[in-house]
Amino acid sequence: MTDPQSSPSPAAHSAWSGRFSEPVSDLVKRYTASVFFDQRMWRQDIRGSLAHARMLARQRIIAESDLAEIESGMATIAAEIEAGKFNWNLDDEDVHLNIEKRLTALVGDAGKRLHTGRSRNDQVATDIRLWLRDTIDDIDRLLRAFQEALLATAEIHSDTPMPGFTHLQVAQPVTFGHHLLAYVEMLDRDRGRFADCRARLNRLPLGAAALAGTTFPIDREFVARELGFDGICENSLDAVSDRDFAIEFCAAASLVMTHVSRLSEELVLWMSPRIGFIDLADRFCTGSSIMPQKKNPDVPELARGKTGRVFGHLMGLLTLMKGQPLAYNKDNQEDKEPLFDTADTLVDTLRIFADMVPGIRVKAEAMAAALRQGYATATDLADYLVKKGLPFRDAHEAVARAVRACESKACDLPDLTLAELREFSPLIGDDVYGVLTVAGSLAARNHPGGTAPSQVRAAIERARKRL
Ligand code: ARG
Repeated sequence: MTDPQSSPSPAAHSAWSGRFSEPVSDLVKRYTASVFFDQRMWRQDIRGSLAHARMLARQRIIAESDLAEIESGMATIAAEIEAGKFNWNLDDEDVHLNIEKRLTALVGDAGKRLHTGRSRNDQVATDIRLWLRDTIDDIDRLLRAFQEALLATAEIHSDTPMPGFTHLQVAQPVTFGHHLLAYVEMLDRDRGRFADCRARLNRLPLGAAALAGTTFPIDREFVARELGFDGICENSLDAVSDRDFAIEFCAAASLVMTHVSRLSEELVLWMSPRIGFIDLADRFCTGSSIMPQKKNPDVPELARGKTGRVFGHLMGLLTLMKGQPLAYNKDNQEDKEPLFDTADTLVDTLRIFADMVPGIRVKAEAMAAALRQGYATATDLADYLVKKGLPFRDAHEAVARAVRACESKACDLPDLTLAELREFSPLIGDDVYGVLTVAGSLAARNHPGGTAPSQVRAAIERARKRL
């Protein structure tokens, strides 16, 4: 500090103010700072700094004694932050400078040597990748828990009939278990997308320094190994400026939220008293402050709403990147809030859904009643006629006439007598009632991927093995 060559300039208040003649205004300070949102990467920042310092010592760029000081200082800092006793300071702009400044206050010159051969540009890129890697691992566990919840509920309802819909019109019987398994598939693909994103992001930017690399004899492979990266970013300009991984993450999160939102829409519809297929546990619903009778499915509604916010973050990040020339620009600091909010929204949503799904109370009688009103076995009757030799188009026509007759009589297909049914085709025999029942219709779709209860149970087994 007494070294005349490092005497402070008039504006000396930050790590970079040496060349400035006046300090930034308070508004600009707040505008440019990121410490209040990037401090959540403090663990990754310390981890990255320790790996960098170990490499510097190994390469004899700093002394072993410097490394020892840095390690002990960082241990103190970690304990301070953990205990909520760390003084995060707006004057120090971001998580990196806050930690470095405290380190220097604790251990002196060794702290000042830490930034040798490094820039905040490659430092922040490293921190975000480490943070996102941890987050993806958490999300994968949550997606799996959500799948397990769906599978457990599907198992209980592997032969509970409900109407399958197309165009929101009753189409054909399916089982509730089969319906839930559709979401297990979606989540499988989601997990695959996050795994892809993780594999691509798992490369080390450090060593790129500001943008062009560094004049020090660094060992990037060593740092990569220390931090569990699969390799290094090949190009220094790309290393500091790439945020593809953040966009990929938000894209994968957007698809998870799309799936959650579709399920939410179904839960809301099913819970509407006009449909009444399910009830959700009280702890996921709220009442109305004016209408005493209400029980509203707030959680699925909010999840449906939050989906839009995650899409917005994806669009925001794409837009953030599209106009940036190489290499690092301060624009990149804007990557964090959308990324963090996407992760937070997704994590909370997945936690809640894994808890909510097993609490779905299925009202099987309402599902069965809807099936009786929707001519849900009409396709089965057409298939029956085809098996008796009628071309499918003719069978379709005959059954359509039968449905019209039911409509005027206000009854369902199995309510017609054999004589009445035979008016539409003489091929119909008394074995027809076997195919006109819901149970018969379900059991007949007996192939992998079909809704027959035995197939649903087999699909649950296969899905469990995949988990
Ligand atoms: N807080 C900055 C960010 O999040 C760190 C990198 C700053 N680099 C710079 N040259 N100003 O992007």
